[in-house]
Amino acid sequence: MSDDLVPLRCPLCAGTLAAASSGERTLTCPTGHRYDAAKQGYFNLLTGRGTSFREDTAAMVQARASFLAAGHYEPLADALAQEALTGFPDRVPRLLDAGAGTGYYLDAVASALAGSRGQRPPALALDISRYAMRRAARLPRTRALVWDLWRPLPVADAGVDLLLNVFAPRNGKEFARVIAPGGLALVATPLPGHLAEATVPLGLLGIAAGKDESVAAAVGPEFEAVHTREIRSSLELSTDDAVRLATMGPAGHHHDDASTRSRLQTHPMPARVTAAFRLQVFRRR
Ligand SMILES: C[S@@+](CC[C@H](N)C(=O)[O-])C[C@H]1O[C@@H](n2cnc3c(N)ncnc32)[C@H](O)[C@@H]1O
Ligand SMILES: [Zn+2]
Repeated sequence: MSDDLVPLRCPLCAGTLAAASSGERTLTCPTGHRYDAAKQGYFNLLTGRGTSFREDTAAMVQARASFLAAGHYEPLADALAQEALTGFPDRVPRLLDAGAGTGYYLDAVASALAGSRGQRPPALALDISRYAMRRAARLPRTRALVWDLWRPLPVADAGVDLLLNVFAPRNGKEFARVIAPGGLALVATPLPGHLAEATVPLGLLGIAAGKDESVAAAVGPEFEAVHTREIRSSLELSTDDAVRLATMGPAGHHHDDASTRSRLQTHPMPARVTAAFRLQVFRRR
């Protein structure tokens, strides 16, 4: 099974990292570095290194999974799937989701490709949150690795064809190394106005809406900008949805459900909330 997955690189020695002959639950390199799967199926490649990053908690990841499962951001998932289908008309690209979270968008893209090509692509999910990787590890033909995107990625040179990066850090230099020439990077960021009506009622932290050019600068000169789309929708949120929205983002580190609910009594949510995303498509030169 391992041979047709996304090719990995050992974070310690840069040798080929692959399933051990003893089975899929151990990854090993020719030098003998070994990584065992957690019981939920993901691999924590950061073991022993530590990181100062504050990972999304179980409650934050649960809130994100429920919010996304309700379909509120489906227009963005559909747009990503569409770009994957048109970008690779005659083959099944190997996928990498950098900052995959629960794997919602990765699954949407992989399922669309499977539906249209009859073959599900091999996929790799990277995220610093163990709770997110527990969920992503459940997807078919997918490996989920706990990793810090600011470090050299545990992926072979030119090992993937299509990279997804949805509201997550962009390490352009490493993205250029791991995407094969001619491959694509799909980068989604919030537009100004995204969730604007919910900011005060939910006590959300300011949403950093980057400019087109700043994303292009982050991905760097090895990518050519192909096109940009804007995806807007109007969300009707129940109180439970609103509480999940508050919990799933960075504000989730500071608020609990009870405090969000009591805040909503004095700062009611409007009937509709704007969702606005920018999706930029880049080609690896
Ligand atoms: C706003 S969430 C988006 C997750 C997913 N793409 C989605 O839209 O559902 C940002 C994600 O980036 C991850 N993240 C943040 N900094 C990271 C880093 N340095 N390395 C790896 N993942 C990181 C977080 O754990 C979180 O899952
Ligand atoms: Zn090694």
